[in-house]
Amino acid sequence: MPIQGFFRRELSRPGPRSELPETDDRMKITLKEFTVLADYIQQVTGIALDQSKTYLVETRLSKLAEELKCTSFSELHLKVRADAGGTLASKIIDAITTKETLWFRDNSTFALLQHKILPELMDRRFSGAGNPGKGAIRIWSAACSTGQEVYSLAMVIREMLPDWSRYNIKILGTDIANEAIARASYGQYQKFEMERGLPPDRLAKYFVPVNGNAYKVKDELRAMATFRQHNLMAPSFATLGRFDLVLCRNVAIYFAPEDKAKLFLKIAQILEPDGYLIIGSTESLLGTSEAFEPKRHLNAVFYQLKNQNSPRGPVR
Ligand SMILES: C[S@@+](CC[C@H](N)C(=O)[O-])C[C@H]1O[C@@H](n2cnc3c(N)ncnc32)[C@H](O)[C@@H]1O
Repeated sequence: MPIQGFFRRELSRPGPRSELPETDDRMKITLKEFTVLADYIQQVTGIALDQSKTYLVETRLSKLAEELKCTSFSELHLKVRADAGGTLASKIIDAITTKETLWFRDNSTFALLQHKILPELMDRRFSGAGNPGKGAIRIWSAACSTGQEVYSLAMVIREMLPDWSRYNIKILGTDIANEAIARASYGQYQKFEMERGLPPDRLAKYFVPVNGNAYKVKDELRAMATFRQHNLMAPSFATLGRFDLVLCRNVAIYFAPEDKAKLFLKIAQILEPDGYLIIGSTESLLGTSEAFEPKRHLNAVFYQLKNQNSPRGPVR
């Protein structure tokens, strides 16, 4: 299966230092073991791994295999399959997923949100600003990793609406990785993470320093978001409700074309007819989804449903 350039780049990024074994004594994976584990990972997460990712699988799963006292990757696979509770599956997911993210990732996307999409939605949902309590806006950050995307969005909304608490705007952040969701929900970040895209004035305004080298998001920003674990491979997203805006960025690049197509079909089913979809700035839905049409604002692209009048199912 051909691998897109961006996909290749993201997966081959060096992970955090702690993820790399100090010596090269990691457990080696055979081709057969790799094939079996890669199939399992794709089935559960949608992440498609070809043979060029052998090193990545060895690196990311060796520690877990050792912790579980497995002497081979076959043993790890058997243990995971036998674990009906799903605890081991969740550990594999935590270990294998690439959680690369940053604050205000892609300036043009945040300019698009601030200058077009959010004002349009606010106008439509809260028309008659005298009565802001009437309408609601629901936003979903699908695959939000450790939460930077969600809190960046919350900061933009706060700055657009100084009396934001009078408005019903909710952001849901979900991710398949429990570890990422726990971190997003806790909202605490190391200094080096804060340095990735967060301007100093926003750092001072929305975070409090903790233990000298970490920062915690203030309660008022935290209150705008809820987080929960959710797998984009789920057969339907109906349990999440319906959304006015969905951000699904830098995750479908890891999926095989058929899983990617299913993903965007499911998103189309839970998007409001006049809602918006934003994907990663290097991604495209060309040849993936017939449901959406691309629209351009300045140098950013967003998607809307082609047939905005088609009846939606009873999702809410
Ligand atoms: C590269 S990060 C992108 C984070 C953020 N959206 C951004 O653009 O900065 C990809 C995230 O997708 C999540 N992910 C991978 N497969 C998933 C799936 N099947 N369902 C939900 N999340 C998934 C990973 O755990 C990871 O946190």
